[in-house]
Amino acid sequence: MIVDLSDEEARAALPLKWGAVEPGVLPAWVAEMDYALAPAVAEAVAGAVRRGLAGYPPFGDAGVGAAFAGFARRHWGWSPPEDASVVVGDVIAGIRLVLETICPPGPVVVPLPCYPPFRDVVALAGREMVPIDLDPDATDAALDLERVEAAFRGGARTLLLCNPHNPLGRVPSRTELQALAELARRYDARVVADEIHGPLVLPGPHGTDGPVFTPYLDVDERAVLVTSHSKTFNTAGLHTAQVVCLDPADLARLRGVLLPQNHAYSPLGMIAARVAWSDCDDWHAALVRRLGEQRDLLAELVASHLPDARTRPLEATYLAWLDLRAYGSDDPAAAALAHGVKVAPGSDYQPGLPGHVRVNIATSPDRLEAVVTRLAKALAG
Ligand SMILES: Cc1ncc(COP(=O)(O)O)c(C=O)c1O
Repeated sequence: MIVDLSDEEARAALPLKWGAVEPGVLPAWVAEMDYALAPAVAEAVAGAVRRGLAGYPPFGDAGVGAAFAGFARRHWGWSPPEDASVVVGDVIAGIRLVLETICPPGPVVVPLPCYPPFRDVVALAGREMVPIDLDPDATDAALDLERVEAAFRGGARTLLLCNPHNPLGRVPSRTELQALAELARRYDARVVADEIHGPLVLPGPHGTDGPVFTPYLDVDERAVLVTSHSKTFNTAGLHTAQVVCLDPADLARLRGVLLPQNHAYSPLGMIAARVAWSDCDDWHAALVRRLGEQRDLLAELVASHLPDARTRPLEATYLAWLDLRAYGSDDPAAAALAHGVKVAPGSDYQPGLPGHVRVNIATSPDRLEAVVTRLAKALAG
């Protein structure tokens, strides 16, 4: 059910990921998958274009909120209201809208390492950032709640949570999220939860049971969720994401913003979102199985070609975090590029952090093997 794209097909489908590298170089950097679209999504979007749909998007959410609520119910046993979504152009635009519109004034806590635009969007929203280092090499790498509390005590009133975590691939437990919620309640702080990777919780090694995803809003009703079908269904270019907010007054404020503050979403993306959330459960199940196999293959390849690498359990996402400091290169991503593979440098996620890379495993087994062997060759000198 998951169809691997050939190099030529991938180059046509994913112009950023594949267009950023010379022919012959393998792109294992940005979070896009070298797989064909889910047929139902492709059909729905192609059908809409054939019908001439290229006009402005409609008022309202065109059923995207109800479709997401159905997905959340079926997959996570969580039932958000169907009318609690505001459509936005992408997740980062949604975070910016939330920061500008409904988050309390004051600095914003950002756990590091983080998806780099988290840092940019805090600055764009005119907020001060309070970074909190997670230990990217700890097996657990949990949020340090004492440091979060210190930040709240110092005046911060918003925290950007990435659940599950990119780039660490970690799924926080319900208990851990409940403890964060309790802290946020005590300080009247607001958590903005980016859960774009929520549907990408993987099975455990070799098909065993994996961790359980907890939607943060299920433990903290005052939080705001920003999500999209786009990482799971490979549709980032269709520009549709959603903010989910349970407080009616805040929802009204989000819906009442001036058009130029939130107008960049696409009617084609809204169709893709509705179909992805509603009609693609079989494809989604095949995807997470396939990504689980890729993750298991990565573990074997790393054990045989990069035995001194330190890895983290990849519980979610298709983005693996490797600590390669044992090989003595401060910038293994630059070394890898010279040997035909583009991976993301760890310092993009935690400024100043040497010797780490993030590797995108959502490709074919053959390409993944080439990625790891080229990386190993690069580090061998
Ligand atoms: C945690 C996280 N948030 C947001 C995004 C990007 O989402 P969007 O393109 O909808 O802004 C990514 C992309 O990889 C991501 O990993």
